[in-house]
Amino acid sequence: MVRLLNIEMLAVYIAPLFLSSTLAAVLPFSPDQNILSTESHEESSFRDLQIGQLNFLHTTDTHGWLGSHSNQDNYNAKWGDLVSFVERFRENVVGENDLLLIDTGDKHDGNGLSDATVPNGLNSTQIFNELDYDLLTLGNHELYVEDNTVLEYYETVLNEKFQGKYVSSNVEFVNDDGSLVPFGSKYRYFKTEKYGLRILALSFLFDFRRFNKRAQVTPVLQEIEKKWFQELTETYSMEDIDVLVVFGHMPISDTENREINQLHAKLRHIYPNTVIQYFGAHTHIRDFVALDNKAYALQSGRFCETVGFASIDDITKESPLVSRTYIDFNLNSFLHHSHSNSIKEFETDRGTEVNERIHELRKELNLTTKFGNVPSSFYMYNKPLSSPHNIYNFLTKRVLPTLKRDSDNTADVASTRIIMINTGAIRYDLYEGPFTSDTEYTISPFSNTWNYIQLPMALAMQVESYLNGMEPIMTLNLPGEQRRQCPLIEDKTLSRGYTTSDDLGCKGDDTPHRSERQYRIPNVVQSIESTNNADELVDFVYCSFIQPFVLEALNDLNEDQNIVDHTFDDKDCKIYGGLSIKDLLREYIISLN
Ligand SMILES: *[C@@H]1O[C@H](CO)[C@@H](O)[C@H](O)[C@H]1NC(C)=O
Ligand SMILES: *[C@@H]1O[C@H](CO)[C@@H](O)[C@H](O)[C@H]1NC(C)=O
Ligand SMILES: [Zn+2]
Ligand SMILES: [Zn+2]
Repeated sequence: MVRLLNIEMLAVYIAPLFLSSTLAAVLPFSPDQNILSTESHEESSFRDLQIGQLNFLHTTDTHGWLGSHSNQDNYNAKWGDLVSFVERFRENVVGENDLLLIDTGDKHDGNGLSDATVPNGLNSTQIFNELDYDLLTLGNHELYVEDNTVLEYYETVLNEKFQGKYVSSNVEFVNDDGSLVPFGSKYRYFKTEKYGLRILALSFLFDFRRFNKRAQVTPVLQEIEKKWFQELTETYSMEDIDVLVVFGHMPISDTENREINQLHAKLRHIYPNTVIQYFGAHTHIRDFVALDNKAYALQSGRFCETVGFASIDDITKESPLVSRTYIDFNLNSFLHHSHSNSIKEFETDRGTEVNERIHELRKELNLTTKFGNVPSSFYMYNKPLSSPHNIYNFLTKRVLPTLKRDSDNTADVASTRIIMINTGAIRYDLYEGPFTSDTEYTISPFSNTWNYIQLPMALAMQVESYLNGMEPIMTLNLPGEQRRQCPLIEDKTLSRGYTTSDDLGCKGDDTPHRSERQYRIPNVVQSIESTNNADELVDFVYCSFIQPFVLEALNDLNEDQNIVDHTFDDKDCKIYGGLSIKDLLREYIISLN
């Protein structure tokens, strides 16, 4: 058996010899940044994977990003390359150990490959399913729209190759006749190929309420009180299980709802001494959590930027050894970790074929249609709002002011115009390079309309701060707060990328990067334009999606301050007209060339 020899694990063995007893006491894992002072020598190369008896590769929240990130070298691999990687990794690296391939859902909404078809995911689902998953399940994005749910059920759950492997312990599908069936298997019990390890796998979706009428989600804590679960855990008792694998669309760090922690408490009660490996999803971060000294959880990022790796060794011993690595989704990483010396050696027939299908699909969906060039990169979270390289700054300063009201709508124009958007209208960074139809699907696929209200300046100027004081109701995918502090890496020779901190320390990313700083982004942002003849009136323009929030803000503010003798409702809101955010951005980019 191959020993786990990464620096972090090594630290466990040497800690009692060289370090203070307080550090030694945190076995079986230690925060690695405190261990070896020679670490900086390692910074220029890859951090190698630590193969154990049982190894996992994990994808999650791919959201249709199967065709690489064309303007980001760090993430230049395609789905077919992942297919090749898994084959080569199995052949060249895993050897006589076991490997399980797992996905935890959210396969739509985010990229043209999935979103440019009707229904959404029609062709991308087939491409996704080319990977031979051992365990897979669904996320909340498979449950918003009926068509998506039906497609997922017939194309993936009922797919011959995934029989027994598609697991959903707390979601049901609603048949045409209204009857309920499990959305896949309730569990999977199987033996691994090489060591014959006995695995019981369960999969839970977080407490998601907005499912459509073709599905039903039962909160996990209710589900595990049901009879089937009691019977299952009686059938498979501690003696029958070597590793309990709990994978699902649920965050592994959840300080608010603590769903996973409550689930773990219940499972630990039933299986006091079983090794448990969790795989999580949904919050789009790289994360690894130690729930106790025999239970760990891995979450593997988003958007095909990450392949998560985890391993467990000494499984039958009192303290199993674990490791994790977040692999950057690019060809250099894939070649390195699969011990391939060249692309030729790396690519498999199947991988090549999958990449060809992606290429054809991109062409067929016109995703390659180029509108212009983005002159430099604009970021959602990695630059502060005050920076010209922040995408919201770019939109409010450059793009939104180009909005023109409908030509037959020129009555009583105020001297000041405010245009407000919710930051959730944007869902990805805008990178320097070609601006294509695909870019639009990633940045802002939605088509919004504009409404406006004419307001006194004193009232209009307060709406932004009011809405930004509210809970983040309108933003999508705000990245989780970093809980543990790792040193900020500012080495200019390194490329920008993830420098993740997790329960095993600061060395989880396979490639040492320069840290990306993360800034908090408010709910809404606005542009303000004024002419000289200030008349104290404002045309307050906003994307119609946020109208209920704007009205609430106006009435709440006015109630406190009595600025006007009026209660605002939908009748005050008029159509402004003009191009959507998406089209304004396209026109702006075209105008630059
Ligand atoms: C997309 O899927 C549809 C329906 O299965 C099929 O007719 C079409 O050929 C597919 N397109 C590509 C490029 O695979
Ligand atoms: C792609 O573009 C061509 C030519 O402009 C057009 O005929 C076709 O309908 C487009 N296809 C899609 C899926 O938009
Ligand atoms: Zn997601
Ligand atoms: Zn999700």
